Amino acid sequence: MTHTPVLAPSILSADFTHLGADLSTCQQAGADWIHVDVMDGHFVPNLTFGALMVAACRRVTDLPLDVHLMVEKPETLLEDFARAGATGLTVHLETCPHLHRTLQQIKSLGAQAGVAINPSTSAWALKEILPFADLILVMTVNPGFGGQKFIDLTPKIREIRAMLTAINAPAWLEVDGGVSEQTAPLLLEAGADAFVAGNAIFRHAEGIAGGIRALKTKITV
Ligand code: DX5
Ligand code: ZN
Repeated sequence: MTHTPVLAPSILSADFTHLGADLSTCQQAGADWIHVDVMDGHFVPNLTFGALMVAACRRVTDLPLDVHLMVEKPETLLEDFARAGATGLTVHLETCPHLHRTLQQIKSLGAQAGVAINPSTSAWALKEILPFADLILVMTVNPGFGGQKFIDLTPKIREIRAMLTAINAPAWLEVDGGVSEQTAPLLLEAGADAFVAGNAIFRHAEGIAGGIRALKTKITV
């Protein structure tokens, strides 16, 4: 089962000096979710923001907050992020030896439970967890930075879509990294239904609203 495709601007590429105004622009232009990239400087070689940023976003938008946790031991932070107003909490499979337990913990906090995989992690590593996840996030760059070159993993996305269909699982299939007007149609065709975009929105020649409109055109089915 696929959903009506959604677009999630990633605030990693935003100008934080006017984030509130930019989030309003995103919402008015038709953004569906807001993607928040949390990095710890250990699991990924970059350090960003914590639950305070989620709480700040929550005060200026009522869009769902799609929080991507690129951190070691994410289970120690879940409660803070849920309390800050996260709608969904996505943990990396590579950081969670007890992934099923971690997803149950997220759900018990009232949030949607997501699982992310790095470009080098195989689709089959997800097999046992698919029935328990609300969202699967396929990284199409190595996590850590915005504006990187897209890695064409459409065969893996196709494979995961087939696995979800085979068990009639309702999880979203999200893609993150290098999503643009050029790559979004390929990802849509492969079965993705949630699209994260940073640079393609916040660095678009026609501004944030122009970037959102351009991408929405590409993912509208
Ligand atoms: C990368 C982050 C992405 C990033 C995408 O580690 O998970 O969400 O913001 O940025 P773009 O769309 O510029 O590749
Ligand atoms: Zn992300």
